[in-house]
Amino acid sequence: MKDKFSGIISSDAEKINKILEDHALLRCGDSPKDRATAAEVYALSAGGKRIRPVLAVEFYRLFSGEKEPPEYVYEAACALEITHTFSLIHDDMPEMDDDDMRRGKPSTHVAFGCAEALLAGDGLAILPYELLSDIALRGDISPDTAVRLINILSQNAGNSGMIAGQMLDLWSEERTDIGEEFLTEMSFLKTGCMLIASCLFGAVMAGATPEQEQSAAIYAKNVGLGFQIIDDVLDVTADPTTLGKPVKSDIGRHKPTFADIYGTDGARQKAEALSEAAAHELEKYPGSELLREFALSLASRNK
Ligand code: IPE
Ligand code: IPE
Ligand code: MG
Ligand code: MG
Ligand code: MG
Repeated sequence: MKDKFSGIISSDAEKINKILEDHALLRCGDSPKDRATAAEVYALSAGGKRIRPVLAVEFYRLFSGEKEPPEYVYEAACALEITHTFSLIHDDMPEMDDDDMRRGKPSTHVAFGCAEALLAGDGLAILPYELLSDIALRGDISPDTAVRLINILSQNAGNSGMIAGQMLDLWSEERTDIGEEFLTEMSFLKTGCMLIASCLFGAVMAGATPEQEQSAAIYAKNVGLGFQIIDDVLDVTADPTTLGKPVKSDIGRHKPTFADIYGTDGARQKAEALSEAAAHELEKYPGSELLREFALSLASRNK
């Protein structure tokens, strides 16, 4: 990916990290009642790639035409990272994937205990709605925009999105009759939906047209499926230190994955084709080069 573009993506991610670090809603002391918040801050602290908020910021840039998005756009984008982090805390718990490393550190339940991790996940599941409504209450976005964002996030993260996908993922463990169609549906729900929310966040805050929103969703759906395919490949092929989480976790849990059905090389090719389809969807928009290259770079990622 061109240096110019990777520099912009890193600076978006740095800005996101800074907001997450400084945010008043994530301040805590060391009293017993602050323990869940401390675990939330631990789980959120740097180490994640910040792909979801970066997508939101970049779709804002694309459809608003503004080079420097206002601070509230980054702040709203943090709602996506917070929701994603809640899903990771619970995903790693012994009742789900039972993984003891995340983002290069002991998983939240390992560092803080299971009950505390459960509460931290609960806290982070709710926090985005406080954050988004606060942005509207202080007048940076209209109430209508806030309602749209809240609706997009809750639909894609909730029972008809990420939670449903996570449920299918658990249900699929130990099954030997799982094929491409099931894995595609499961991945759309558990991973793709949060990427759809991310791209739509930027589009909605930029005042995009329905056609532009549709393009954002098509891009996200393709990138999302490719993203989960590569996640499955990395679980087999990656170096755990680079990855920041355990490898061979899916095999250990007897989870059917794209790496099983396509093989690791075939799965990489499939992810590349999906990234190309995502990039193709944005060709009609001038200024979309960064997002097009970003989609392609995600298919060759090693972490
Ligand atoms: C991991 O997401 C979980 C999936 C949905 C595949 P990421 O690979 O984006 O994890 P972080 O946020 O960079 O840690
Ligand atoms: C998780 O998928 C998707 C979520 C919604 C958290 P995985 O279980 O494959 O994600 P990793 O590999 O643990 O990051
Ligand atoms: Mg999982
Ligand atoms: Mg997992
Ligand atoms: Mg995985």
